[in-house]
Amino acid sequence: MRLDKILTHSGCGSRKEVQKMIKGKKVTVDGQIISKPESNIDPTQSEICINGKPIDYQEFYYYILNKPGGYISATEDPTEQTVMDLLSIEDRNKELFPVGRLDKDTEGLLILTNDGKMAHDLLSPKKHVNKTYYAKVKGKMVEEDIHIFAHGMTLENGTTYQPGQLEIISSGEFSEIYVTIKEGKFHQVKRMVQYVGKEVVYLKRIQMGQLKLPNDLALGTYRKLTEEEISYLYQ
Ligand code: URA
Repeated sequence: MRLDKILTHSGCGSRKEVQKMIKGKKVTVDGQIISKPESNIDPTQSEICINGKPIDYQEFYYYILNKPGGYISATEDPTEQTVMDLLSIEDRNKELFPVGRLDKDTEGLLILTNDGKMAHDLLSPKKHVNKTYYAKVKGKMVEEDIHIFAHGMTLENGTTYQPGQLEIISSGEFSEIYVTIKEGKFHQVKRMVQYVGKEVVYLKRIQMGQLKLPNDLALGTYRKLTEEEISYLYQ
């Protein structure tokens, strides 16, 4: 792989910027200065440094973000803040994208990756990856709602939702629930709750597959997933 390509892939800067670094003799490969951007290097076998600091090369990157409200799940937007604004400049340059969308006001577990196949697999209802949400609801959630969720539903506009699992944590003027679904359609949890005559007032994704949102991951912060955590996503 070309050295300049490895550096842009790894978030070190634009093609122009990294070419300048390479020509400026700031880049070493296994301790040797390499000054030609087109040099062919195997990034999995060599240690590549900029100003003596190893770069973070991986073919695929996987991060978990505890998304706060107020950010949209997109890579760019002319007016809104996006989840990319929560990343370091280096990570923002890695061409990551969010796996599926959480609404602007929804919090919680969001995966960021550059692995398109993984993103597709996690979102495809056929792959049966559960997504679990915690919600606060205005209105009293009742036993009957559990059965309605379990049968799936068709909205008046024709949108269909596959069966979902509803667990009622507390029920009253305001209720607390867990909802587990395999799909990720637009506003799905809010609309499922609306279908049974109540309103979501707070929503947080807490689990995908067997991967739980870590308790110690503060709102608005993110980190790399471990190999083990990546495997949990598929279980
Ligand atoms: N369902 C919703 O209604 N909103 C989300 O952000 C995610 C699931």
